[in-house]
Amino acid sequence: MRASRCLSVATALLTLVALKAYIEWTAEQEEHFPTPHVASGQSSSVTAVQPSDDASPAFVFQHFNVSLQQLRHSIPRAKAYWNEKQYKNFWALEEGWVANASWDKCASSDAAEQAGKIKDFGSYSELYKNFILYGDCRNFSLLIDQPGKCANTKNDTFLLLAIKSLPGNFAARQAVRDTWGKEGEPSGLPVRTVFLLGTAQGRYGPRLQRLVRFESRSFGDILMWDFEDTFFNLTLKDFLFLSWTLDRCRGVRFILKGDDDVFINTPKVLDYLGSLDTSKPLYTGQVVANASPFRVQRSKYYVPESFYVGPYPAYAGGGGYIFSGPLARLLHLISQHVAFYPIDDVYTGLCFQALGIRPEAHTGFLTFDIAEKDREDPCVHSQLLLVHRRSPQQTLHLWKQITNPNLKC
Ligand SMILES: *[C@@H]1O[C@H](CO)[C@@H](O)[C@H](O)[C@H]1NC(C)=O
Ligand SMILES: *[C@@H]1O[C@H](CO)[C@@H](O)[C@H](O)[C@H]1NC(C)=O
Ligand SMILES: *[C@@H]1O[C@H](CO)[C@@H](O)[C@H](O)[C@H]1NC(C)=O
Ligand SMILES: *[C@@H]1O[C@H](CO)[C@@H](O)[C@H](O)[C@H]1NC(C)=O
Repeated sequence: MRASRCLSVATALLTLVALKAYIEWTAEQEEHFPTPHVASGQSSSVTAVQPSDDASPAFVFQHFNVSLQQLRHSIPRAKAYWNEKQYKNFWALEEGWVANASWDKCASSDAAEQAGKIKDFGSYSELYKNFILYGDCRNFSLLIDQPGKCANTKNDTFLLLAIKSLPGNFAARQAVRDTWGKEGEPSGLPVRTVFLLGTAQGRYGPRLQRLVRFESRSFGDILMWDFEDTFFNLTLKDFLFLSWTLDRCRGVRFILKGDDDVFINTPKVLDYLGSLDTSKPLYTGQVVANASPFRVQRSKYYVPESFYVGPYPAYAGGGGYIFSGPLARLLHLISQHVAFYPIDDVYTGLCFQALGIRPEAHTGFLTFDIAEKDREDPCVHSQLLLVHRRSPQQTLHLWKQITNPNLKC
């Protein structure tokens, strides 16, 4: 138990360092980053990290070393691929870390060797195999960028709608642009939209690519990275989006991450966000609590036991959730020490857990849809913030109805 005693001494020291830095930091700048709230019983979680570039990496990482303990407590030390990989990350952090975060060695022989140790690797699906073999690859170039997305507004972007889409989903994107994803400054609050894409594979890939480029020139809202847009690359997409946000949209207040087939009541979302105390970090949506890996092999969410064992953290359902813009930097940093997980919203939950931030449930998010009879009812939709899922036609129709000033409910 020597190691664990060492660890608690280290944790105590780091908490002191963090506390001192926190006090200095709050004295210095109150404005830009929310004063983080510390949930009860979580005193060793991240309390504050200055989001700007001047925060010394040592300071930031000391925070994480403290807070990663929470994640560590929830992950069993088991003989499963992800668990073992993540424990290596914990150990690397203890040893002095940072420089060799595992993802420097993308698609290395090491990955193949580790894969070879999974007893039933041969029975894994092609997607899983690729996820494992390329799971450390995080450096993909941006093929289509929108460098001025957040630049030409007087106020910082208030809400950034970051919508996961697929190259072929032209109709869904157009419906979003024409309805809840329309850019503008309602009540002086700049709203901006980006669609997050990887590349299309197969015979029609190159042709789709050209169409998407054309679409981007017309609408200026596409971000496309040079990786295959598959379900198991969504975590990668999240990560690359965070990097983009830090480059291009650093001052954003809130980020709504969603799918292109959700319906969002943007005016109501803005009302809600406008009413919040921005000094508290926010991570909200429909909270999935007490979940664990799905073991039904035919499911899209199937996770083999030789891949991961343990519970899932509470997380906000990936159909759509909102978090404070300044958290982008923290998520980006912490995610360099949390191994990618094939299910993107679970991964985001793991990163938030590592940061000591719990998802807050909001009843207006219905990522598993509503009663069938209500699915076309504008009055029901005018009370919601987000619902999954609606076709482009339903979206156009519902939007027209809920934005009609004569709507009587
Ligand atoms: C990480 O890098 C250090 C030197 O920078 C090296 O001593 C250590 O072996 C490396 N660890 C791993 C797991 O590669
Ligand atoms: C990422 O890729 C770019 C070019 O593709 C390269 O210049 C850069 O060094 C890479 N970074 C890392 C950390 O591998
Ligand atoms: C900036 O936002 C405030 C509300 O936060 C608003 O009152 C003001 O009009 C906005 N300024 C511009 C130029 O839109
Ligand atoms: C993710 O994208 C990379 C780069 O295109 C690809 O090599 C890898 O197979 C993809 N992973 C999955 C799980 O599809």
